[in-house]
Amino acid sequence: MIKAITGTKDILPGDIQRWKYLENIVENVFAAFNYKEIRTPVFEETALFARGIGEETDIVGKEMYTFTDRSETSVTLKPEMTASVVRAYVEHSLGIKQPLNKLYYISPMFRQERPQAGRFRQFHQFGAEALGSDSPLIDAEMIQIAYDIFNRLGLKDISIKINSLGVPESRENYKKVLREYLADKKENLSEDSRVRFEKNILRIFDSKVESDRLIMKDAPLLIDYLDEESKTDFEIVKQALTRANIPFEIDPKLVRGLDYYSKTTFEVISGKVGSQSALCGGGRYDLLVEQLGGKPSPGMGFAAGIERILLACENENSFSLPDEKIDLYITRLDKELSTEVYDIASYFRRENISVEIDYLDRSVKAQMREANKFNSRFVLFVGGEEFIIGALNLKNMADGSQQSFDKNNLEEIKKILRK
Ligand code: HAM
Repeated sequence: MIKAITGTKDILPGDIQRWKYLENIVENVFAAFNYKEIRTPVFEETALFARGIGEETDIVGKEMYTFTDRSETSVTLKPEMTASVVRAYVEHSLGIKQPLNKLYYISPMFRQERPQAGRFRQFHQFGAEALGSDSPLIDAEMIQIAYDIFNRLGLKDISIKINSLGVPESRENYKKVLREYLADKKENLSEDSRVRFEKNILRIFDSKVESDRLIMKDAPLLIDYLDEESKTDFEIVKQALTRANIPFEIDPKLVRGLDYYSKTTFEVISGKVGSQSALCGGGRYDLLVEQLGGKPSPGMGFAAGIERILLACENENSFSLPDEKIDLYITRLDKELSTEVYDIASYFRRENISVEIDYLDRSVKAQMREANKFNSRFVLFVGGEEFIIGALNLKNMADGSQQSFDKNNLEEIKKILRK
């Protein structure tokens, strides 16, 4: 038997309501902040991600689904959306049409990571990118959007961590300081961290190895080496969050795994989903548009992992859904009447009334069991003596009451079903 690929998951009809519930909240919150939806292709030229996310990152180095297609082009299934959105923004000159573009998405992403609880190879993100403004209020807006969505989902056990990575110049200065600090400790670092020392020194802060953590405990912090502009912006972000009653912690060791960030970065962590605890992450990327060939234009965004969020919701029991219902089940009393039943169902279905009928030649009893299983509000009986004299019986399943209607007057039944 062929099974789904490791790290991918079917979202079955029984799960879909929770996904739709979440997506509905996401869309409402983005509408409240006036974000417009963007959809980009599932695959792009590999160079886009390599250049956008950074050659030295785990995503580009180890996790991308990259292949050469039949025309010898190297293509990659998108591991994230920011690079794709920026590509579309540049390609379609969106910045010329509008000075500030506020865009959101809900889309599958692909990363060949080791699967575990909350970590998949095909997963789904919702997220947003605002292109064209360097205002720190946009940074606050992004954090607020994420917070408001989590809040509306009923999540309580979450913490927001924020940091500033400064502009490239102050970051380069800081890296020198960090390199000096680590110079005589380098030999004691894990192998991974020694590689990072050469290639991406900030990421040593992300190491889970205990001895690395001990070494990094007393390391100098980037936040103490920030340039004036980053410092002022960070203050504005913090103040805006405080005014909006959004609880946050400053985490000077939050470095993020993608290379494009500068200034504000943030993550939202859940205490209820185990080791893969980041529900979302994001930050400012003021140089990315230029790096990808566009006119310099600041950007800020975040993305959130839907599977993880739904897991957190489940573990917190943060929302419950009403039972699914249909409006009408049409029970066929005589076998010969299936075409009549089908036609009556068609009439109501075209009136946007949800209807089910039997296609399996089931007994009346079995049809009634189906009606109950589908939580049908009403059952319409077609057949028997009533039908011969031109009548249909409608049963209200909530109170058991029945009413008789002329079979040529479906309009009257429609009025009752609409109530
Ligand atoms: P990221 O931190 O790589 O950022 O991913 C964002 C979120 O996607 C994570 O916090 C997590 O919830 C979810 N996620 C990532 N990998 C997996 C996986 N293998 N399985 C399940 N969920 C996962 C970005 O993707 C950036 N593009 C965010 C951004 C937008 N920054 C600026 N704009």
